Amino acid sequence: MPPLRIGPLSIDTPVVLAPMAGVTNAAFRRLCRESGAGLYVAEMVTSRALVERGEESLRIISHEPDEKPRSVQVYGVDPATVGAAVRMIAAEDRADHVDLNFGCPVPKVTRKGGGAVLPWKRDLFTSIVRSAVDAAAPYGVPVTVKMRKGIDADHLTYLEAGRVAQDVGVAAVALHARTAADYYSGTADWEAIARLKEAVTDIPVLGNGDIWSAEDALAMVERTGCDGVVVGRGCQGRPWLFADLAAAFAGSDERVRPGLREVATVIRRHAELMVEHFGEESKALREMRKHMAWYLKGYVVGGQLRAALGLVSTLTELDDLLATLDLDQPYPGEAAEGQRGRAGSPKRPSLPAGWLDSRELSEDFRRALHEAELSVSGG
Ligand SMILES: Cc1cc2nc3c(=O)[nH]c(=O)nc-3n(C[C@H](O)[C@H](O)[C@H](O)COP(=O)(O)O)c2cc1C
Repeated sequence: MPPLRIGPLSIDTPVVLAPMAGVTNAAFRRLCRESGAGLYVAEMVTSRALVERGEESLRIISHEPDEKPRSVQVYGVDPATVGAAVRMIAAEDRADHVDLNFGCPVPKVTRKGGGAVLPWKRDLFTSIVRSAVDAAAPYGVPVTVKMRKGIDADHLTYLEAGRVAQDVGVAAVALHARTAADYYSGTADWEAIARLKEAVTDIPVLGNGDIWSAEDALAMVERTGCDGVVVGRGCQGRPWLFADLAAAFAGSDERVRPGLREVATVIRRHAELMVEHFGEESKALREMRKHMAWYLKGYVVGGQLRAALGLVSTLTELDDLLATLDLDQPYPGEAAEGQRGRAGSPKRPSLPAGWLDSRELSEDFRRALHEAELSVSGG
């Protein structure tokens, strides 16, 4: 595979760590970066919280000194605020790449017209993207768009949105090949990634959805012709997946297959990095809890011990619990592989009443949209 080109950035291994709120902070990104090569996107930040310079927002977009390129994701519903947030990031040299999030399927967001259902209003989508691109352009910072296929099977927006993004000056588009209605259910529709690749010809198209292994990544590229892959849940509790991905794209069969002792070492290191990141042990360990089940997937660990790890609150307690694991356990194979993380069933998307009646934004919707951003956690 040739390097992935995102504006002036050249990413040798065409792999992107998907932005995941509550997961892809600087600590987790460090673990991923140490394993592989690629572009590692921070957790989403909302444009409004960022321009208000909230402490949490500034933490979300902070990077370690050795992190290059520095990549952040912005979510917003108002062109002027998104533009201001992107200008702030670029002018203050806080990142080398800005991704825009149009993929959120959460009802409290879509109910107000935000997230994955926003591109339905093509005037609004166009002006948000244009505003971000125009704000970043003077600083040479590339802007990308991440989106879903659309609202549901009858209201697809991704081909049009991809072309608009390209025309407005976006540096790449990424498609999570599900609709808002699909939520995280079923399997991602890689065929849609191939369709987007046909429709968007001047900028890279990135495929996203259900890459659980390096082999899946190669298969997605082969089946869709995409220029790079975006990997989310597959690396939860498995930051070493990035080593597999780098090997696979370099044509090597080498794969990381850790025994439980190595996994325990990574858990400990992740916890230490989290303490450094949050500067507060109790907060860091609380945030670590959800990672435990991901790290231990497929390994034989008793229910009580699992439960205790899921409630861990200090590094000392973590050490004591990790020491009681059967650390000589080898890699369990299939049981540790396949789907992990968020799943669920399809949901009828909650939309503002009358949202589907027009592709243009009316004044009433504009007011409701303001709330769509306020109800998103992301700084
Ligand atoms: C815990 C979690 C948090 C997420 N947060 C974000 C986010 O902040 N921004 C975003 O664009 N997508 C977010 N996503 C979606 C992922 O980036 C990705 O598109 C999705 O998980 C599909 O890819 P996968 O099958 O590789 O997981 C999130 C997903 C998960 C599971």
